[in-house]
Amino acid sequence: MERPADSTVRLALSEAGISRRDFLGFCATLAAAYALPAAQAKAIAAALENAPRASVIWLSFQECTGCTESLTRSHTPTVEGLILEQISLDYHHTLQAASGEAAESARELSMRGNAGKYLLIVDGSVPLGNPGFSTIAGVSNVDMLMEAAKGAAAVIAVGTCAAYGGLPAAQPNPTGAVPVSHLIKDKPVINVPGCPPIPVVITGVLAHFLTFGALPELDDFGRPKVFYGETIHDRCYRRPFYDQGKFANSFDDEGARKGWCLFKLGCKGPVTYNACATTKWNNGVSFPIQSGHGCLGCSEPGFWDVGPFYKALSMPTISVQKVAGGAAVAGVAAGAAVAFANRAKKGAAKAAHEVVTVDDLEKP
Ligand code: SF4
Ligand code: F3S
Repeated sequence: MERPADSTVRLALSEAGISRRDFLGFCATLAAAYALPAAQAKAIAAALENAPRASVIWLSFQECTGCTESLTRSHTPTVEGLILEQISLDYHHTLQAASGEAAESARELSMRGNAGKYLLIVDGSVPLGNPGFSTIAGVSNVDMLMEAAKGAAAVIAVGTCAAYGGLPAAQPNPTGAVPVSHLIKDKPVINVPGCPPIPVVITGVLAHFLTFGALPELDDFGRPKVFYGETIHDRCYRRPFYDQGKFANSFDDEGARKGWCLFKLGCKGPVTYNACATTKWNNGVSFPIQSGHGCLGCSEPGFWDVGPFYKALSMPTISVQKVAGGAAVAGVAAGAAVAFANRAKKGAAKAAHEVVTVDDLEKP
């Protein structure tokens, strides 16, 4: 994890044996995610190659370590991994070799040496019911968060627990769990929810910071719009079946075998904003719906408490075309109209994405 202070992505690339072509492919993916034209993808590559490393302190509070697992058990070797190597991960009590006093003093040294510049990443919620419910090196989570946030340039709340309270905050919330944004009011807090979040989304936010020196634009829930701007339903490959009213009624019926829509089996895709249907998981192999299970809504606030996982939200009652035409309907049909409009709006951007190729980027 330790790199010289003047290390750049360019140096790390050659050290890691990752080809320039793979790197450019990653930049094209980022440009597509940010809805930028091909020329901007080149600019991203140039900026990222020469970006200095950023110091990162990662604190884990009330969590299951799934967020770290998601990141580290992604695919190797990858440019996303390289971005993580490129940052100076000065403190992460799951991943670091140091322990005890040595670990804590590394954190304090980094905070002092990089005051005002380091990124603070947090996974897990913070218990306010009793400071002793969760501690690190004898320090309560709330005290450690407030101390570490003081000198941070920005705070990234990774995972639904840090972003919204998550499972620890589910009713009756026995520890008084709160999200990071409940406590940090004087710094930018960016939420990267998901249970766990998609690895490329976490690294995409870091790459944005390295490239542009700033955090991406956020939605009303503090999530980066580039990754959380559309619902799963907007981009779901089963959407044509939804629009035709073809639904699986059980996990082993004919509809399920034919890959029909999982709405009646409780899919929360119509009300869940995340990038699973486009970036997918495990290096783009699949995502829950492709594996035959509906979306649970894991990137939305309070998803543990919003009703049974296997009960439909409500029933679609009319066709998307009628909804888009202005028919007044309630529930998920209205959601479908929004999704329909979003898809139309994003059409031009998608077309722009498709012309950004590695070959384009390699041209002088
Ligand atoms: Fe896909 Fe779920 Fe929407 Fe059906 S309801 S189209 S499975 S996101
Ligand atoms: Fe979560 Fe739904 Fe994606 S459950 S992993 S947001 S498909």
